[in-house]
Amino acid sequence: MTTAKISTRKFDVVIVGAGGSGMRASLQLALAGLNVAVLSKVFPTRSHTVAAQGGIGASLGNMSEDNWHYHFFDTVKGSDWLGDQDAIEFMCREAPKVVYELEHFGMPFDRNADGTIYQRPFGGHTANYGEKPVQRACAAADRTGHAMLHTLYQQNVKARTQFFVEWMALDLIRDAEGDVVGVTALEMETGEVHILQGKTVLLATGGAGRIFAASTNAFINTGDGLGMAARAGIPLEDMEFWQFHPTGVHNAGVLLTEGCRGEGAILRNANGERFMERYAPTLKDLAPRDFVSRCMDQEIKEGRGCGPNKDYINLDMTHLGGDTIAKRLPSVLEIGHNFANVDITKEPIPVVPTIHYQMGGIPTNIHGQVVVPKDGKPNEIINGLYAVGECACVSVHGANRLGTNSLLDLLVFGRAAGNHLVAANLGKQSHKTLPADAADRSLARLARLDGSSSGEYAQDVANDLRAAMQQHAGVFRTQAMLNEGVSKIAAIAERVRNITLKDKSKVFNTARIEALEVENLIEAAQATIVSAAARTESRGAHTVNDYGDTPAHPNGRNDEQWMKHTLWYSEGNRLDYKPVNLKPLTVDSIPPKVRTF
Ligand code: FUM
Repeated sequence: MTTAKISTRKFDVVIVGAGGSGMRASLQLALAGLNVAVLSKVFPTRSHTVAAQGGIGASLGNMSEDNWHYHFFDTVKGSDWLGDQDAIEFMCREAPKVVYELEHFGMPFDRNADGTIYQRPFGGHTANYGEKPVQRACAAADRTGHAMLHTLYQQNVKARTQFFVEWMALDLIRDAEGDVVGVTALEMETGEVHILQGKTVLLATGGAGRIFAASTNAFINTGDGLGMAARAGIPLEDMEFWQFHPTGVHNAGVLLTEGCRGEGAILRNANGERFMERYAPTLKDLAPRDFVSRCMDQEIKEGRGCGPNKDYINLDMTHLGGDTIAKRLPSVLEIGHNFANVDITKEPIPVVPTIHYQMGGIPTNIHGQVVVPKDGKPNEIINGLYAVGECACVSVHGANRLGTNSLLDLLVFGRAAGNHLVAANLGKQSHKTLPADAADRSLARLARLDGSSSGEYAQDVANDLRAAMQQHAGVFRTQAMLNEGVSKIAAIAERVRNITLKDKSKVFNTARIEALEVENLIEAAQATIVSAAARTESRGAHTVNDYGDTPAHPNGRNDEQWMKHTLWYSEGNRLDYKPVNLKPLTVDSIPPKVRTF
């Protein structure tokens, strides 16, 4: 097979990924009359956004005094000053608008007695600049992502967005000028490769949480957009920062929403002590996730973990009452029964910090345009390429994301990218010419797999990759562990080149899909471990024991040397850096301070 023989379809915009950000962008485009294709490995309402539970952050002030300035402050502080303050201001100011818009699309939010949207407290969200927790998470029980995804899907169907379901995007197509002109994709049902040509391609592929062994992420979260970008010469930003969610079910990984603690649940050690009072006297159990996860790990390391092996913490909801749990946390009740054999109304549930979210990703500006260093400038636009959602790094989350800012990020930047593309008047532009070798890279990848007669199976290599990442890039890191991790992942990268397929059939060959996914996982894993080993400080979720608290560098954070974004390039496995933007759009900058709670 050659590029010349491959079927080609043309669209104004090709969107890869049908989660919250992809469908928010596609809706904006389809409503404007543009010809939009959305590719998804799964049926859209099964995208990983469906798993988001607790809420969408927006300073509506329905239940306690709030405004976007507080939200802006909390997000900058939560990011440990690695977030870009222009992007954070943009997100926090837009938040009420995008939530009300979603409400008008039909989103079934929980309601207060006066009809307003119900809001619960969430970690790191405060009133009056850190003084006390605020109720900012707009919630649909503990199924907010589920409700949001269905609402967006319904609106897209109405707007006639074209979905390509069970299609896996393989590679970006760049022309001689470096502009992106389309993608190659595999139709899973037939095993055929297609070219989807677009005036613009928008990546909305979510995170790569499946590079870790214990993860709250769906199995589809294999960093496909990251792999596509990395193979096309685009750097990945700040990949050393991975969020551990404090409350994954012990031995199962399934998420128990921070909304539990928002509703009043308490973390207890083996002595029954509410230990967060010692570490975070003001916010207690509702301190940000990086901080709470470290405190839990510390309790376990110091011998106060629960259970026969002293290896978990108890999340206690027994005092909330059956009615509150049934109304506000119905899925958590089910998860307790199904994954821990626990009735959470009667006994605490065992939890451990579990990988949940990737703060880094494909570098973008606030319009969703992908930006890279070029000609001495740090943020030059790549024509024809946008990225939004977890696969992108705009960067609003910096070194640590606050809960509820993820669903918000999807809505704000999905919508912003859509608006920016509508304003670009794409309908009046013509397609650029496809290069003659448009599909060659993808065809060569598939030909190698199909032609292989020996080698290892994808699942064996992937399992080793996940185990290595879990071991070498955990809640607490050490320089030695990270350095060792770099060598281990490099060795696994060699094995990825030698993956073989036993079953070479075409129709719904999930082994072929898995092998292609591992080629994406390895890019995300290398970016993570190489970036992490190079950052010789502690900041947000990147906590390295070697760089602890000193008078010169409280909490181990070294602003003089490290207040900068990492950029990792696949080619040459090399690193570059670019400055953090401390200048917001309209308000005063929040100057760096030591984070206490
Ligand atoms: O805990 C949760 O409900 C997760 C929310 C988030 O990651 O934003």
